[in-house]
Amino acid sequence: MDVPPFIIVAIDGGAASGKSTSSRILSDRFNLLHVDTGSFYRAITAEFLRLGVDAADLPAVHAAAARLRFGTRLNGRSAQMEIGGRVVLDADIRSRTVNDHVSHFAAIPEVRTALLAYQRGQADVARSHGFRGLVMEGRDIGSMIFPQADFRFFLHADPAERARRRAREGQQDSIAERDRLDSSRKTSPLACPPGATSIDTTHQSLDQVVELMATPIAHRLSAA
Ligand code: CDP
Repeated sequence: MDVPPFIIVAIDGGAASGKSTSSRILSDRFNLLHVDTGSFYRAITAEFLRLGVDAADLPAVHAAAARLRFGTRLNGRSAQMEIGGRVVLDADIRSRTVNDHVSHFAAIPEVRTALLAYQRGQADVARSHGFRGLVMEGRDIGSMIFPQADFRFFLHADPAERARRRAREGQQDSIAERDRLDSSRKTSPLACPPGATSIDTTHQSLDQVVELMATPIAHRLSAA
């Protein structure tokens, strides 16, 4: 009997572009492990802040990054990061302070390198738990982490619409500033990678955006 294909779906985009909600829906629909790499950068940021490490103090960042030990725990279909055996809670990583600092730490090449193998290793986590694949969201998934992914999507939306979405979630977030930092950094800047499918979500409902991604995925899985 043929082994069903293991598929990798990469979804990149700026803050509040709709990545997380649509990734979760695709994860449920196709039994894919959901991996939110933004939560990893947020978790590292919360840990650096807890340790009193300043993003401007590069030697201290490098030393702290080298000491981090990561693990993964499953929360339903989502991968949750553990640092030093402790699971990192959502409440601790969605704070205003983390929002303000995360892009500064994420721009440091050694921080990105510290996460590279861990992020790629999520494919093994998905395989070993019997998922059909993985849907990974972030800023550099289709360009750097999984450039050979079966599907690569890039979501974007007007800044005003994205700010409205974040406000509706009750969050204070420096979206414009994070986007500026994320797009202008030297290492793995936020950009639509060549060959990825770009989707403007400004005037589309969540259902419409999900269908644009789900249709080719369903086609691939049913053809297998
Ligand atoms: O959810 P939201 O779109 O606000 O952001 P996020 O996905 O939680 O990511 C938080 C921050 O982590 C981003 O602003 C980036 O600075 C950084 N990040 C990154 O550099 N590379 C990734 N693959 C994912 C996130």
